[in-house]
Amino acid sequence: MPRTTAWPETSKGHPAELDPTRARTAYAALVDPEDTQAEAVPLAEILAEIRTGIRAGTERSGVEGPAAPDLAELCGQADAWSHQETLRYRELAARAAAGDADLLLARSAALGCAPLALLSGAWLQWLSGMANADEVSALAALTLYASDVGVGHPRNSRGAAYVHVLQALRVAEFAVPAARTALDLRIRDEAFSLPAMLLLMGRRPDDFHPEILGADLCLRQVGLLPPLAAVTSLVPAAAWDVLDPGQVRSHEPLGGVAASHAAIAALSTGVEGDQEAGRRVAAGFLWALTALRDWSEGLHAELVDVLDPARQAAELIRLRAREGSQYHQKFDLAGRPLSTWLQEARTDPFPLLAELARSNLVKPGRPERSPLVNGLVSERGSMFRVFSEPDLAVLRRWIGSLPTGDGEGAAAPVADRRDRSGGTRPGSDGFGLWPGTGSSADGTAPADLREAYFLLQRRSQQPAVRRYALEYVHGWLGRARHGLARTDSPLPPRWPEEGLRPWLAGQHEQHAEQFESTAQAELPSREELIESTVQLAPLTMIDGAWLQGFTDYELASSDIGYSLFETYWDELGNGRLALNHPLIYRELVAGMGVDLPPTGSAEFARWPGFLDGSFELPVFWLSIGRFPQTFQPEVLGLNLAMELSGVGGTYRRARLGLRKYGFSTRFVDIHNTIDNVATGHSAWAADAIDSFMSSAASNGGEFARDAAWGRIREGYRALNPPTGIHAWLADRRARRVSRSR
Ligand SMILES: [Fe+2]
Ligand SMILES: [Fe+2]
Repeated sequence: MPRTTAWPETSKGHPAELDPTRARTAYAALVDPEDTQAEAVPLAEILAEIRTGIRAGTERSGVEGPAAPDLAELCGQADAWSHQETLRYRELAARAAAGDADLLLARSAALGCAPLALLSGAWLQWLSGMANADEVSALAALTLYASDVGVGHPRNSRGAAYVHVLQALRVAEFAVPAARTALDLRIRDEAFSLPAMLLLMGRRPDDFHPEILGADLCLRQVGLLPPLAAVTSLVPAAAWDVLDPGQVRSHEPLGGVAASHAAIAALSTGVEGDQEAGRRVAAGFLWALTALRDWSEGLHAELVDVLDPARQAAELIRLRAREGSQYHQKFDLAGRPLSTWLQEARTDPFPLLAELARSNLVKPGRPERSPLVNGLVSERGSMFRVFSEPDLAVLRRWIGSLPTGDGEGAAAPVADRRDRSGGTRPGSDGFGLWPGTGSSADGTAPADLREAYFLLQRRSQQPAVRRYALEYVHGWLGRARHGLARTDSPLPPRWPEEGLRPWLAGQHEQHAEQFESTAQAELPSREELIESTVQLAPLTMIDGAWLQGFTDYELASSDIGYSLFETYWDELGNGRLALNHPLIYRELVAGMGVDLPPTGSAEFARWPGFLDGSFELPVFWLSIGRFPQTFQPEVLGLNLAMELSGVGGTYRRARLGLRKYGFSTRFVDIHNTIDNVATGHSAWAADAIDSFMSSAASNGGEFARDAAWGRIREGYRALNPPTGIHAWLADRRARRVSRSR
């Protein structure tokens, strides 16, 4: 449930800050859709971090952020800052171009923006979920997010557009998946702080919905990140309009600043009052603006250093020093082994740089005659391939800048020891996202199916609830697997290499035949129809739950996952209440005279009109939806079974019954069309499986392909698994195995 208290205006005690070295590690963890560390960070610590930012922003700007939610004024501040900062980077770019270092500068600027730009909008990914799937605020946030992801097309997210920028600059080695940027030592720790905080809040939507939207609006108002002013002219073909999160993209749905404002406006229709939500939105905005300023300040200083050849060379030596120090014990430099110099260079590379400049390895001002970048690194040299071509360019530039003694060359500051320590690899010493994290409550596992249904509708989960979900999935799949080899599954025993479309057409024809053959069969009585419709409500009112995991930013724009995200987007009505499947079903049930409590409420889960058994399959959907990676093949199979189940037959038959008693047929009509086998959800489900089978699974050869197909078949059968005693024993066995892991 959303918090109802505003940010305290002053901080008590000592607010913890997200240590930059932890931010890098946190970023890598938070990009993983199944990682649960975000839930372990104490709420007070996140609040403290944001308060720190707000205080700094308030002191700097004089604007009373949380107390005066004047978004227009904050937007004006963001505009002004963005404009000035962009000019500052343009000046830097002009200086770089004059010194023939524009590419160098652009690469560093692009890398410095990468952790944020590669996930542009990702903080919105959990703002919609099953607990709020029919609420205006969730649908507005989902609309904004769908635009960022570029719903309906693979690799169409704003982040994917940024990968092209990095590729054009030839610095994309660590860009995909985004978690790998944490391993890119060219990117400083500080670049991860802001995105890590945004992702962290994004994982806690119940706690931070208004603050996330405030921060989001700030980023869109700022527009194209100012440091990218040093990049634009070098990559003119990039989709710069897509890379500006404030701009509306050229196709539906509506995104950019306008949709961000709409998502904020939709907040006030929720349970909180306008003013309360407004204060929290303003707090998020001001925090983000402060964090952006701090980050940009640091990056600007870093880029100034990039233009200094000596600093660049020093940084390169610092990065290579650890490996290099394992060699060169016998190479003497100014009376000491080079390995000792390198060992010291890990913390301060400038003394070694100064000594190299004096050695006979370097001819000051004359890189073409310096052994360090010629003979030593040639094919026959002792340091062949130790430096990459960009590394050598850095060293040549430094040597070229050294004074020759005959008046040529710039007088570069060789021995400046200002410490600008660079990136740190993520620690392997068992990290917490936050200082002091790790002792948070384990939570309590759901006592029964109804409580599980209630708890699992929330995006954030305590460890005990997650374990419950994992065990439930294992058990359910154990049952789905039981006797599968001996059963006539609709899916063929091996994946057809021509793909699933022909098979799908055949299934559709079978459904139609069954419908025709049962057309004269007796329809259920009115009471029977109402009862079965009501008992299906816990399932249909979380329509799309099995696909929740595919709202993950990278999955939602992947070749396999994009159509699954689009299906989820459809189930929730493309941001429109009138098309929202859970709401349409609620109206059908209401038309039968049954008034159900809100789906996300405890009252719904405890509603006495439901049978306990009506929660069995919904809890499976909710559980497996949390594991889009662990159970990806099973989700793909389940998705196909689900989307295909009613098309052509069941929906048409259900329509007959509904019409007979004068109830709305909208729910079945919309599904018989939207799930269709030619251009609808069933077709997308088949295509997603074909994409998975022909790429991911085929990487491991035939054995891996067959194993993956087996898991897809299990997932398909999981929509309707066997229920005999032996099947339930298989369920229990699979749960036991899951527990012992
Ligand atoms: Fe649906
Ligand atoms: Fe569907």
